[in-house]
Amino acid sequence: MEEDRIKWNLRYQSEGFYLGEHTSPFLAREIERIKLLAPGGTALDIACGEGRNSIFLAHHGFRVTGLDISDVGLAKASARAGMEGVEVDFRVVDLEHYEINASYDLILNFNFLLRELIPIELKALNPGGLLLFDTIMESPQLLATHKHSYLLRRGELVRLFEAQAGEILFSEESDSGEMPTARILFQKSLETA
Ligand SMILES: C[S@@+](CC[C@H](N)C(=O)[O-])C[C@H]1O[C@@H](n2cnc3c(N)ncnc32)[C@H](O)[C@@H]1O
Repeated sequence: MEEDRIKWNLRYQSEGFYLGEHTSPFLAREIERIKLLAPGGTALDIACGEGRNSIFLAHHGFRVTGLDISDVGLAKASARAGMEGVEVDFRVVDLEHYEINASYDLILNFNFLLRELIPIELKALNPGGLLLFDTIMESPQLLATHKHSYLLRRGELVRLFEAQAGEILFSEESDSGEMPTARILFQKSLETA
């Protein structure tokens, strides 16, 4: 949506990194398990922003595609990837109107919630592929300040993923830190196409 592009372009205009330059702690924590289960594979970073997680995966040998609506964020991401000597295929797209045509061994969905996209992400995972999801969850404070559709409900991720063909390898709902967050590591079954 054009409104989102403008909003995020403004946020990314500063010199620093809006969400910090460090890899998401959940991804950093899980990287060794990810590499064991999806070695040297293809990865898709949904709403990748300034590219911190895409670039981290590229350093770990993944061939990464990063999608985001913000051309400003992606320009910063590309510049950083170049400076760090890794290649990432960053693409400016509106995920509300985007078809994922390829399939991937690993998909990240961090700090972004578009519920209609979840079945599409599951379909785009190769058999045995991994999906990491990590985003903010409702709380009385956040319900007062955020669009409700951007907030996960309590228990929502587990309910959704336990109904899929595959296994939840890790799940957590955390109220520590700045914002309540839910995260999940899901492995798609090897038998599904
Ligand atoms: C909170 S940031 C998360 C960035 C990144 N995943 C991270 O954790 O560093 C949310 C991202 O969603 C992107 N976004 C918002 N609406 C979008 C849309 N319709 N299509 C693609 N990206 C969108 C924004 O540009 C922004 O980069």
